[in-house]
Amino acid sequence: MRDLVTLDEVIDAIRTLAVRGAPAIGVGAAIGLVVALEHASEGRGGRARELLARYAERLVAARPTAVNLAWAVNRLLVVAGGAPDEALLGALRADAEAIRAEDVAMCDAIGRFGLEIIPDGARVLTHCNAGALATAGIGTALAPVHVAHQEGRRVQVYADETRPLRQGARLTAWELQRAGIPVTVLPDGAAASLLRSGAVDLVIVGADRITANGDVANKVGTYGVALAARAHGIPLYVAAPWSTIDVATPTGADIEIEHRHADELGELPAGARVWNPAFDVTPRELISGYLTDRGFVTPPFSDVTGV
Ligand code: MRU
Repeated sequence: MRDLVTLDEVIDAIRTLAVRGAPAIGVGAAIGLVVALEHASEGRGGRARELLARYAERLVAARPTAVNLAWAVNRLLVVAGGAPDEALLGALRADAEAIRAEDVAMCDAIGRFGLEIIPDGARVLTHCNAGALATAGIGTALAPVHVAHQEGRRVQVYADETRPLRQGARLTAWELQRAGIPVTVLPDGAAASLLRSGAVDLVIVGADRITANGDVANKVGTYGVALAARAHGIPLYVAAPWSTIDVATPTGADIEIEHRHADELGELPAGARVWNPAFDVTPRELISGYLTDRGFVTPPFSDVTGV
């Protein structure tokens, strides 16, 4: 648990992945922005408005790939535009709280719609952590797993370790164990042979950004899992709330991929060069279905949203 009060503390928590996972980044940024403004302005709406644009810009730059961050911050900017100074902080706080509550509801809806793909006895492979620790609710990719388990269906999960920061081993395994759901951790490099072995019925992953044409940015390694799943005839589903769909970005080639520090790869020979993208893009052709809080949807998403 961490108490975050200043903007620097909120940005540091997002950059260092203390708050991570696309929906949680959006919720954390929204609430963090309000708390930081309240603190810095000492509750004075006029002063908060002076700080708002610069704070928003710095927050959005904290991590570029998860669209939920910009989505949440932009939503607060729109609210601010419609509120007089004396009501500004109250209006922002109410909307940040609404973003959190909506995220909880979207996760529940993803879980309920996702029951369709989790029959009794299902064996699911997932990558990274797109569970409760990545959202304000029960997660996205793991939401159907949690709901199926609550409904008494037997379900077991294979969790890719997820190099280099090991979200699968550290977070997904922890979360599922606590929920009493059988979980097996595997090194990322073993996923292709696990898929070939016949031990997996379906793959479910989360998303950091889904573009208008249906391409998906998610934790690096997802693309490789998708290729292997397709090669072995196993369906791969992407689960995400509506806030992760970015109709303003046409294709995956237009997504800014975050690159992280070489230190994350551990000790290396002095002078070794490192390529450490945090995310990769899986093209829509490799995705069997898009599970959202509005049910299963089909790209292009500009048609679905009417944008
Ligand atoms: O770098 P991270 O841990 O923030 O990456 C997280 C992922 O890639 C998740 O799969 C994605 O954000 C969806 S979380 C519901």
